[in-house]
Amino acid sequence: MPEPKYIIITAEGRDDMVERTSAATSPEWPEFMLNDPVANKYWAALYRDFPQFQFVLADPETDEIMASCNSVPLAWEGGFEALPNEGWDWALKKAFEDLKAGKTPTIQCALSVTIPKKFRKMGLSAHAIRAMKEIGRANKLKSLIAPVRPSFKHKYPNTTMTSYIKWCGSDGIPKDPWMKVHAREGAEIVNICYQSMRIVGTVEQWEEWTGMRFPGSDKYIVPGALVPVKIDWDNNQGTYIEPNVWMVHQLG
Ligand SMILES: CC(C)(COP(=O)(O)OP(=O)(O)OC[C@H]1O[C@@H](n2cnc3c(N)ncnc32)[C@H](O)[C@@H]1OP(=O)(O)O)[C@@H](O)C(=O)NCCC(=O)NCCS
Repeated sequence: MPEPKYIIITAEGRDDMVERTSAATSPEWPEFMLNDPVANKYWAALYRDFPQFQFVLADPETDEIMASCNSVPLAWEGGFEALPNEGWDWALKKAFEDLKAGKTPTIQCALSVTIPKKFRKMGLSAHAIRAMKEIGRANKLKSLIAPVRPSFKHKYPNTTMTSYIKWCGSDGIPKDPWMKVHAREGAEIVNICYQSMRIVGTVEQWEEWTGMRFPGSDKYIVPGALVPVKIDWDNNQGTYIEPNVWMVHQLG
């Protein structure tokens, strides 16, 4: 595979990055995933307060976004096995709490790598992880932790994450495409964060987000969801609790 050509652009000094990256990445996600309240609360502030940790890989000729990447610095002194169950939501919130409290960051946490369909299957995702790790090193952080969203788990919504992550080749590398890239870049699985994202809406909202109808209270398999969505008509509520996998890269 030829080496993809790109330039790395961080959000430093660029006011248009939130809009540009949102326009490029939103169509790449199932609509319900754009309704995580923690993400919606902090996303714009991410580009304002941690611009050096937000970057894109851009086509050097057309300036198109080939990959949009987000991470945050965190102050974490605990062992990695103690990383919380609330994975992604926890990390995003904690970055802002640490900043407010004036804590010195020690590690970096990956939040997202999104590659528009046009630029997929070119091997770009490993380049995105390497660029993210370089940013961590440049900021003197010791490790890159990631609440990884396995990219094929949505095909197996009824399989527990505990079973899913055991699906490895004889070399011990996970079969899941996105976990595989992290593992090849040196990351190890440390834990499952079962409640990494929590997306709650009315039944009507869930019908709108998914284009489905939910005739009664039940657990439904929804395209793009890693586990079933619980629909509760009595309380007019749909709840999706997304499990992710904590993986850790050393930056030394
Ligand atoms: C996950 C994502 C970043 C991976 O990027 P990509 O460009 O698709 O993947 P790459 O070309 O770098 O390939 C990485 C590996 O995954 C495999 N892979 C990628 N898509 C695949 C598919 N549809 N079927 C089978 N394998 C696939 C590749 O073959 C490669 O493995 P290999 O080197 O053993 O052949 C991209 O699919 C994406 O942006 N998805 C939507 C957002 C998302 O889920 N992001 C991750 C969570 S933040």
